[in-house]
Amino acid sequence: MNLGIPKESHPGERRVAASPAAASRFVELGFDVSVEAGAGDGASYPDSAYEAIGAKIGSKEDAFSADVVLKVRAPRDEDDARELDLIREDATLISYVFPAQNEALVASLQARKITTLAMDCVPRITRAQKVDSLSSMANIAGYRAVIEAANEFGSFFTGQFTAAGKVPPAKVLVIGAGVAGLSAIGAARGLGAIVRAFDTRESVRDQIKSLGGEFLTVEIEESGEGGGGYAKTMSKEFIDAEMALFREQAKEVDIVITTALIPGKPAPKLWLKDMVETMKPGSVVVDLAAEQGGNCDLTEPGARAVHDGVVILGYTDMPSRMSTVASDLYGTNLGHLLDELGGAGEFNVDLDNDIIRGAIITQGGEVLWPPPAAPEPSPAAKPKPAPEPAPKPAAAVTPEAPAAASEGGSFSGKVLVGLALTALWLWLRFGSGASNSVGETESEFLQHLTVFVLACFVGWQVVWSVTAALHTPLMSVTNAISGIIVVGGLVLANSEVPTAAAIIGAIAILFATINIVGGFMVTRRMLRMFNK
Ligand code: NAI
Repeated sequence: MNLGIPKESHPGERRVAASPAAASRFVELGFDVSVEAGAGDGASYPDSAYEAIGAKIGSKEDAFSADVVLKVRAPRDEDDARELDLIREDATLISYVFPAQNEALVASLQARKITTLAMDCVPRITRAQKVDSLSSMANIAGYRAVIEAANEFGSFFTGQFTAAGKVPPAKVLVIGAGVAGLSAIGAARGLGAIVRAFDTRESVRDQIKSLGGEFLTVEIEESGEGGGGYAKTMSKEFIDAEMALFREQAKEVDIVITTALIPGKPAPKLWLKDMVETMKPGSVVVDLAAEQGGNCDLTEPGARAVHDGVVILGYTDMPSRMSTVASDLYGTNLGHLLDELGGAGEFNVDLDNDIIRGAIITQGGEVLWPPPAAPEPSPAAKPKPAPEPAPKPAAAVTPEAPAAASEGGSFSGKVLVGLALTALWLWLRFGSGASNSVGETESEFLQHLTVFVLACFVGWQVVWSVTAALHTPLMSVTNAISGIIVVGGLVLANSEVPTAAAIIGAIAILFATINIVGGFMVTRRMLRMFNK
């Protein structure tokens, strides 16, 4: 069974369907691989590298007339490139198709009785991850978006202290933390920028944090989880709150990378003209949703635009700008799909295979897309079990810590408030009067309990209501409180017989001392960073 890899003819496309390393897997699967001469040139893979893995270098016609044709872009049917006519009627084509946007192409594939598998329709199920080229390409696009932004930005991403002065780190906002967004967060953090990110799906919070980003939230409780791990359209109230958040961020951030998409819909407009106008001149917006219309009002798909000194990049060919790795990963995804198809020996387009059923577009003159709805979304992407609440009217913007407080406020905060009120009541009832029915020791105990509970409550509120970025200075301040605890502990521990109070006092001295020493060490480290 032979397999053809033609040269991509779409203007500006530098990728090829497989690198030589990826194509060697096709040879292992038993295919006779035929590569069009020069197919890998745009991705820095010379013909000789394909020959070295056992492929034949041939003409365009050789590659297109194979039993299985592998492409990146869908075959063209234009005056200057009649590629579709070169594919045999009984052949299998595997490429990007985007059937929803390309009805005429689907009709031609159907008329020509070609078996078509679309790489963009591979279902997003755990088993299909190795075939998921959209994720492979989104990962590259996110990384490249940061590189393009850095190329346009007139300063460092990382903060610097030089003899000539201090340069603050760049502030990057990533909107949409799917595959591309997470890749952008990782790349921007790698370059040393301060990175904030926003997504409608709460499930990405930990992923953003693990990459060193700050998860921004709005005070509206609405789940953004749609089916299959994708997002859904949000309510007007939510979008208004999101806009308020972005308007605040626009005053501060230097780089905005937008990646927000909702399947089957035009990209939501999230970075509006007034936000661009609020940004400092020299700032950069990279709109990775440009191909679906763009998240930014001012994006020109495929182009670089400038508005009020802010550069807006709407490039739609980010993976192609990293064609070497893109071709390798895409080819690897294809290798896994060919494996699912049984390789050359047992090649079978088995519609009972969920990956193949999801990806198939046409077969034997029939259109088989869209596939029947999947019974359940992937476990990672299940919507929250809570019923969708009516959105709260508030549109206030909070960074992560206060958000945690409001969520934490749901349980721990309420418990603490309850404890504090109980303590207050006990104090009023037993502790405040000099003449009460309770003995002196119990009254003292209640007073101490009251102080303890109130201290827990105030401490909780102080720590969780302060932005995470200010925790280090806060720690320095708590040194003063720890100092008071040490004095109190010394008074209590100053006892000849080891009473319970003396032991607790000693323990308090130990913990407060750890806090003081730790606080000084952290503060010292922080100050050393400024001494560079
Ligand atoms: P995408 O490209 O469709 O969307 C990008 C991001 O934009 C999403 O995270 C979405 O929540 C966000 N978004 C949509 N509207 C927004 C708004 N108004 N404001 C802010 N953000 C908004 O997403 P992508 O990268 O294709 O993947 C989304 C998810 O799909 C992944 O995080 C994962 O859970 C799932 N997935 C599953 C795979 C598998 O199981 N094989 C493979 C890849 C992704």
